[in-house]
Amino acid sequence: MEIPGFTLARQMDEIGQELLETMENVVNSGQFILGSPVAEFEEQVARFTHSRYAVGVGNGSDALYLALRALNIGPGDDVLTTPFTFFATAGSILRTGAKPVFTDIEVDTFNMDPEQVRTRITPRTRAVLPVHLFGLMTDVELIQRNSKVLVVEDAAQAIGAEVRGRCAGSIGDLGAFSFFPTKNLGALGDGGMVLTQGEEQAQVLRELRAHGSREKYYHEMLGINSRLDTMQAAILSVKLSYLPAWTSKRQHIARRYGESLGALSLDEVGLPTVPQGFTHVYHQYTIRASHRDQLRAYLKNQGVGSAVYYPLSLHLQPVLQDLGYRRGDFPISERVQEEVLSLPMFPELTDQEIDYVAETIGQFYGKRIG
Ligand SMILES: Cc1ncc(COP(=O)(O)O)c(C=O)c1O
Repeated sequence: MEIPGFTLARQMDEIGQELLETMENVVNSGQFILGSPVAEFEEQVARFTHSRYAVGVGNGSDALYLALRALNIGPGDDVLTTPFTFFATAGSILRTGAKPVFTDIEVDTFNMDPEQVRTRITPRTRAVLPVHLFGLMTDVELIQRNSKVLVVEDAAQAIGAEVRGRCAGSIGDLGAFSFFPTKNLGALGDGGMVLTQGEEQAQVLRELRAHGSREKYYHEMLGINSRLDTMQAAILSVKLSYLPAWTSKRQHIARRYGESLGALSLDEVGLPTVPQGFTHVYHQYTIRASHRDQLRAYLKNQGVGSAVYYPLSLHLQPVLQDLGYRRGDFPISERVQEEVLSLPMFPELTDQEIDYVAETIGQFYGKRIG
């Protein structure tokens, strides 16, 4: 059996025609920058996440950057974040002129440890930037209760995730989504969005994404050109209507993996955990595996795709060496980068395929599964 780690081909079989019609409508409308498809999609996302305002931007990296800019974060400020994330999290902080400061993660959730956050805050810390990795939220409310700093949520991988009934991206001062094609809600290109509960902040964001201008050709602040493309907004509106069903399928897949892989010992694999009160949307189904690289090669040989997110923690990245971190500074992040393996996860995966993946992992460890 051949099972890709990820594919959009099956989604296109289902909704490709609807997307083509949507694209044709945009072509015929003659409107390609902002306009009603963007405004409508912004409203839909605000409603979906129980947020007051949503501002569409060019991609998730810009969403983070502009969220920080809307809070006036810049040179001289520290922003506390996780070393175990995609580069854009730290890259966006650096683009503002502020300094990313890392704090270690929890081994079972892969997210920054809210209890440690409290001890890492200094007078220079202007904001905390938690990442809801793989679709499971960091406990933002706990961070807010422990400290009075601003919070920007990197919810790039977590649209639809919840903690105690509150949506990813809607709890912090601002929240950022990415609509990169592989995300749970993915465009057919780049796209991003910032959530905010403040009218003034929403207005500032709309200006920042258009070169800092409220009125055309009058510039009050230094912004960038980062608008959500009209074509992508129209496509994303269609896809958003499928998102709840796709998320349920991801949760079914995770349950089925969990039931099978639960037969393996904890020395062999650690499965994703979902703390009480949290809803995981499984952007990735990521296990911790002993002999990870051999397992990955074995799976590949048996036709099963997988991926390693992320093989090198941010504090060890060559481009960030000026921050002054060393190997050993964040032991959990460094351990986890050697152990993580993301298994095939996309809503169209069949039960037979899920079982084949689990059985193949069982074979690698010499255990019969199923
Ligand atoms: C955690 C995280 N933050 C930020 C981003 C940046 O998003 P984009 O690729 O849309 O710029 C991504 C996704 O790529 C991500 O996974």
